[in-house]
Amino acid sequence: MTIEIKPLPNTIGVEVLGLDLSKDIDSDTADRLYTAWQSAGIMLFRSIGTTPERQLNLSRVFGELEVHPIENIRLEDYPELIWLANKDATSAPLYYYDDVPTVSRIPWHSDLVYTTTPNRGALLRMVDMPAQGGQTGWIDTAAAYEALDNETKKLIEDKEGLFQFILNPCDMRFGRMNVKRDDNSNKTNEANFYPDFPDIAHPLVWTHPETGKKSLAVSPLHLRSMVGNENAEADALLNKLVDHATSGEFTYIHQWQPNDMVLWDNWRTMHCALGHPPELKRMVHRTTIKGSHAFGRVLK
Ligand code: SIN
Repeated sequence: MTIEIKPLPNTIGVEVLGLDLSKDIDSDTADRLYTAWQSAGIMLFRSIGTTPERQLNLSRVFGELEVHPIENIRLEDYPELIWLANKDATSAPLYYYDDVPTVSRIPWHSDLVYTTTPNRGALLRMVDMPAQGGQTGWIDTAAAYEALDNETKKLIEDKEGLFQFILNPCDMRFGRMNVKRDDNSNKTNEANFYPDFPDIAHPLVWTHPETGKKSLAVSPLHLRSMVGNENAEADALLNKLVDHATSGEFTYIHQWQPNDMVLWDNWRTMHCALGHPPELKRMVHRTTIKGSHAFGRVLK
């Protein structure tokens, strides 16, 4: 298959052109896609994710798929796909960001950093697009690490962050926005809906097991403190690292069109959903590409 891979203009990541998912992906094309993913971290496939099967076939080029640990968000007929949506009252608590009512906003995070073995990657497909908002952003955390000064690189090289499963953006300790939650908007008993996850320690700097590239692993949604340094000085350093990574310099924001798909390397990126007005519907489907490398360890 003849495909073209070109950088996204003025940002991080690449776009893949000419991929025809109505045909099998031959091994040469699969190799090119995998290599481009390793080198770019983020890949856009415009408008070709027309069915769950096409999304699954493309995802399998990048590795074995993982059934997501949160059972309630798996698609009934496709257990390797999860849905994220405000499709009913149980799935979309209402928040006010700077007093603007918003649903489905998910702050910056890498997937599954609340486990020892974050997934290798993921492929997200726009299924039901809202007329306003609903963008997704990605940060190249390898570029963010690269841009740190040498003194900061040295300071964090042996440090670990403590990460927890946090859902409510009001509970964030780092990179928290001006956000309030409407507690009457969501009746889900979250203690029953989600499994328990233990506290996890991850190095603040991850070395990519395939490329050897270093990246800054400070996933702010889940970051709680610096392991062994729960004090104001360590918190100030973590705040500085989060501000640096999320400054916008290393970011790509995708304006979705129907059936667009974006693939990311979860070992060198963070992503966020920007949310949308509560009266609009949005649905995305995601595959999770299994990670076999444990970056972290269980604390308790
Ligand atoms: C995700 O965090 O995996 C989903 C992002 C989105 O819904 O845009």
